[in-house]
Amino acid sequence: MTANLVGAYSTDILSKFDTLVSDIFADFNDPIRTYQYEAYYADRDTVMRIGIRLAGLVCLHEGSTITEIGTDSGFGALTLALFSKNCEVYSCDIREESIIEAKKRANRLDINNVHFVHGDVDALAAALPSRATFAHVDAHHTKEACLRDLEGIYPYLFGRATLVVDDVDEANGVRSAVDEFLQNHPELIHVPTYYNFWVLRNGLEAKRR
Ligand SMILES: C[S@@+](CC[C@H](N)C(=O)[O-])C[C@H]1O[C@@H](n2cnc3c(N)ncnc32)[C@H](O)[C@@H]1O
Repeated sequence: MTANLVGAYSTDILSKFDTLVSDIFADFNDPIRTYQYEAYYADRDTVMRIGIRLAGLVCLHEGSTITEIGTDSGFGALTLALFSKNCEVYSCDIREESIIEAKKRANRLDINNVHFVHGDVDALAAALPSRATFAHVDAHHTKEACLRDLEGIYPYLFGRATLVVDDVDEANGVRSAVDEFLQNHPELIHVPTYYNFWVLRNGLEAKRR
């Protein structure tokens, strides 16, 4: 199933992705663990679908720096690391336990092109070796927090970068933040893709291609 949806990836990558999904789902199923969005990951297929969508969004960004704000379990960052060839992924979280767990998970799965940063968007920006071509904004879902993340990461992206905002259709705060961010940056356009994942790109740069 994974192979059909994400295209030409090696069986090694696809089987690692499958292991990652199982690893994440095992944790979500553990009643002792408390996860912010436990109910959302109701079944293994949902976890896999979310990952496949992220993989589809990142797969064109070869050989560059990829960023994520909001690590949590590390699922998003590890998926991005698996599917973005020759890229280095930088993901941050203000919750230290999240960073510790995500690092353990990366070691367990032998995924080495991912760097977990403890802190907010400013800490992430300080850790970047170069400007990035991709950002997955998926942290706190209030308008103020999300707008801060969007404005915080935007200067660290290249003109033709892809900015993916998660949970836009399900969190009012995120939607309001994106609306204001788009007003602040008229050069950006919303490229409709999947439900809940809003892709923003620089429309002026796109025309120059
Ligand atoms: C929705 S979860 C992230 C899910 C993850 N991106 C994934 O794909 O599996 C949100 C995470 O953002 C973190 N967070 C909240 N506020 C933050 C901030 N200002 N900066 C960085 N991370 C933050 C929370 O601790 C939580 O782990």
